[in-house]
Amino acid sequence: MAFKLNPLVSQSPKLPPFALPLMASIRSPKFYVASTLKYGSKKVENLKKPFEVSHSMSPQKIEMFKSLENWAEQNILIHLKRVEKCWQPQDFLPDPASDGFDEQVKELRERAKEIPDDYIVVLVGDMITEEALPTYQTVLNTFDGVRDETGASPTSWATWIRAWTGEENRHGDLLNKYLYLSGRVDMRQIEKTIQYLIGSGMDQLSENSPYLGFIYTSFQERATFISHGNTARQAKEHGDMKLAQICGAIASDEKRHEIAYTKIVEKLFEIDPDATVLAFADMMRKRISMPAHLMYDGRDENLFEHFSAVAQRLGVYTAKDYVDILEFLVGRWKVEKLTGLSGEGREAQDYVCGLAPKIRRLVDRAQGRAKEAPTIPFSWIFDRQVKL
Ligand SMILES: [Fe+2]
Ligand SMILES: [Fe+2]
Repeated sequence: MAFKLNPLVSQSPKLPPFALPLMASIRSPKFYVASTLKYGSKKVENLKKPFEVSHSMSPQKIEMFKSLENWAEQNILIHLKRVEKCWQPQDFLPDPASDGFDEQVKELRERAKEIPDDYIVVLVGDMITEEALPTYQTVLNTFDGVRDETGASPTSWATWIRAWTGEENRHGDLLNKYLYLSGRVDMRQIEKTIQYLIGSGMDQLSENSPYLGFIYTSFQERATFISHGNTARQAKEHGDMKLAQICGAIASDEKRHEIAYTKIVEKLFEIDPDATVLAFADMMRKRISMPAHLMYDGRDENLFEHFSAVAQRLGVYTAKDYVDILEFLVGRWKVEKLTGLSGEGREAQDYVCGLAPKIRRLVDRAQGRAKEAPTIPFSWIFDRQVKL
């Protein structure tokens, strides 16, 4: 998985509250510096979320996930790639053990010189989001009924979580090494941002429930597939074919992960449509909060919004993508065709099916009213100015 930006954040003053991501709309800028505060201090306590609910899934449903062990082995683990078949970051980078290393680095830096600052800012934000992987593995291990109970549990669910993490770990590594070698960025500022972000963590509001959790990961994997695909396309436009390959390779992993997570939710719709549609509606009401929404570099308290705004302007990940993903998932899971639901379930079905057109109208309206954006410095690129 890893990230994604919240495209709607950058539009926040112009959209009605329901269209806004929860985290961005309820948290004061202070929240973004939570990891700078003393852990356990009163200030941190006060920042607790009002909607926090944990362990909302019944023991029967936990058993149901355990009974899906064999199904997961046969249907989900097949979407993992064997390590021997996987690409590794080194496949795309100058080989430090070869005589040609200096020359290869020089070429990489020549190509990187042609890339505009705004693109670099988005690539850095994407990389930082990927680098906060310890947080995402932690979150997956909060899901009741599927978590890795020992750290090396042999269950299919735990095997998936660890192997998925291993695959994802290559994403941050590769982008980090590329950006380091490019000479275009302030690595120390970037490394600080990663440390802050891992220290802050995230709350995707999934209540320890794999129903909510796998809906969230389905959404996020598709979001990362789209955004890495767009950075690949734009790298090509900027004449850096190697960087295009890097982003493309990451995007194809994200696609494979999206297929696996959406398949899990498809199965949940098949065996427990009522609970699953309720979870889908619940997740969308809370809004998909983006994994890196607590991003902070020690200076800019609105760093995530600023990064999201640049990504939106460049078309790497936009509010339109957010709605497209929602629409895609509604279709993928055939939500409109669900039958035999309870009254509550039918209500959730109506809500989810009617949501995309509603948000789309708001996005269109907000775009029509968008004002000229300011230009601000980003510490990641030595405080060079970038238009939001
Ligand atoms: Fe991913
Ligand atoms: Fe990733």
